[in-house]
Amino acid sequence: MELNQALALIRRVPDFPEPGVLFQDITPVLGDPGGFKAVIDAMASEVGSDGPVDAIVAIDARGFFFGAAVAYSLGLGVVPVRKAGKLPAVGGKATYSLEYGTAELEIPSDVIKPGQRVAVIDDVLATGGTANAACELVELAKGEVAGITVLLEIGALGGRSRLVGRKVHPLLTV
Ligand code: PRP
Ligand code: MG
Repeated sequence: MELNQALALIRRVPDFPEPGVLFQDITPVLGDPGGFKAVIDAMASEVGSDGPVDAIVAIDARGFFFGAAVAYSLGLGVVPVRKAGKLPAVGGKATYSLEYGTAELEIPSDVIKPGQRVAVIDDVLATGGTANAACELVELAKGEVAGITVLLEIGALGGRSRLVGRKVHPLLTV
């Protein structure tokens, strides 16, 4: 399947999770064999554009699907950055803002090795808080962020303003 056909599978769901929000639902892409392969191949290619990387960081939860598949495709390992409280051996914690309140992400200890170049992968870039927190955690672990690759960027939410100086690779920007 062509990438543009795969991206057309993203489903817009009005008023989820609350009235006024147009939710970008990636599940039809995940569930389509050709669509999933097309987006994974394209994300792997974007990761490659940042030069050699040593590992993939995938962000809990929807980033796991993409990050794990891209890592497998590139012959790399995948490091989960998780919502706080899930990891038994925590190497660092980063707080980021939500529309109401804050949330925390954690990185496992001693999985990223100092000096490793790491690609960060998630499904969606919206306000950028999540991706920025993941990058901070990579750097806390003394890794280097090679770039950030996402399936979809929601441009109006200004995520790039929190990622100034970083390479950001969306497959699609709306
Ligand atoms: C969603 C999405 C991104 C993040 C983007 O995750 O999967 O990770 O929001 O938003 P931001 O750029 O404004 O930070 P969420 O934590 O809502 O859900 P998930 O656990 O299903 O991935
Ligand atoms: Mg997420």
